[in-house]
Amino acid sequence: MLHAEITGWGKCVPPAVLSNEDLATFMDTTDEWITSRTGIRERRVCHCNFSDMAIVSARRALAAADLDPSELDLILLGSLTNDSYCPNTASLIADSLGARNAAAIDINSACTGFLYGLHIGTNLIRTGAHKKVLVIGGEFISHYMNWARRDVAVLFGDACGAVVIEASEEPVGLIAAKIGCEADAKYAIQITNLGSAYSRLSEEILYVGWNFEGQEVFKRAVKSMALACADVLDQAGMTTDDVKLVVPHQANKRILDSLAKRVGIEESRVFVNVHKYGNTSAGTIPVALTEALEEDRIEPGDIILSASFGAGLTWGAGLIRWGERVAPLRQSDADLPPCDQTALEILAPQIERYNEHAKAET
Ligand code: UT7
Repeated sequence: MLHAEITGWGKCVPPAVLSNEDLATFMDTTDEWITSRTGIRERRVCHCNFSDMAIVSARRALAAADLDPSELDLILLGSLTNDSYCPNTASLIADSLGARNAAAIDINSACTGFLYGLHIGTNLIRTGAHKKVLVIGGEFISHYMNWARRDVAVLFGDACGAVVIEASEEPVGLIAAKIGCEADAKYAIQITNLGSAYSRLSEEILYVGWNFEGQEVFKRAVKSMALACADVLDQAGMTTDDVKLVVPHQANKRILDSLAKRVGIEESRVFVNVHKYGNTSAGTIPVALTEALEEDRIEPGDIILSASFGAGLTWGAGLIRWGERVAPLRQSDADLPPCDQTALEILAPQIERYNEHAKAET
């Protein structure tokens, strides 16, 4: 039987840092509120295109696997903040990488985009249809943020990550997965005026509107991720004792604590970086996985449990058995173009626009 080993990994976090104190300069919030309710201290703001972040993380993952882009036969991109919808953004990335033999697919399942992509890519390798797949997850969510909404704007950040998965005879990679969707709660997270629904034809798209039922999402997130974790452990005939590290979606430290409690795993075995980046949606898991490797938290053969949830409300969990190699084969020198602005300077035109719009509405 074929398996899909993770052979390369990489992340790209843009350099401009937006702290809680920065947010408090233009909205009615405090570092104390954000830190105590979410654990987030700062997040990053992208100064270039989303695809630039995706390409840098992809180049780093390809170098770690020592793979030439022309060897890829599929690129799966999990994101809802693509540069372009036609052509799809996975094809922009394929062209820039020189992945001339790869099919290119965008996946939009919001925060679960990476886990959904890993599941799809793994199963396409298992069937023999594909052999070398690049799975990318990331978001340029600051672009779609409503900067007049303090209950949403403080939670998110920009970042991207990627992994390479390759066919292997060894029983490694994603050994069990469970994905699903609580579609009855689809409007609990909604960007209200994006899309081609007929009802939106007259809407103003200069200002992005959000529906966001934080507490509802919180409750459903913990419940669905915990059930999915139990499911994948059951599928693999394992218990939490077998799990070396949990690498979950990073949305809120309180959600991670509740998940750990519900699954029955102590906090020291849960990887957390939400304080540095906030919720980067589809970017959280590949960035966290890369940082867990950089920090020597993963050893050969380790069992990693991952779980995610997001708009849809999509959810999922995956159990990964790591292979023999935990160090990159090569380093890439790919990087973003230099950034000469602070995060507040990058965001200034959007903040002004949203504040004016909010004032006009009241
Ligand atoms: O990846 C999926 C994305 N979705 C999520 O991650 C959402 C999951 N949900 C959450 O993380 C939490 O529900 C939140 C962090 C969004 C909110 O935390 P909470 O403890 O559920 O707070 P709350 O919604 O009950 O709000 C409490 C108060 C409200 O004021 P009143 O009505 O009690 O006077 C809010 O208006 O906090 C107020 N508030 C704020 N205050 C200062 C809301 N946002 C802010 C803010 N700064 N940024």
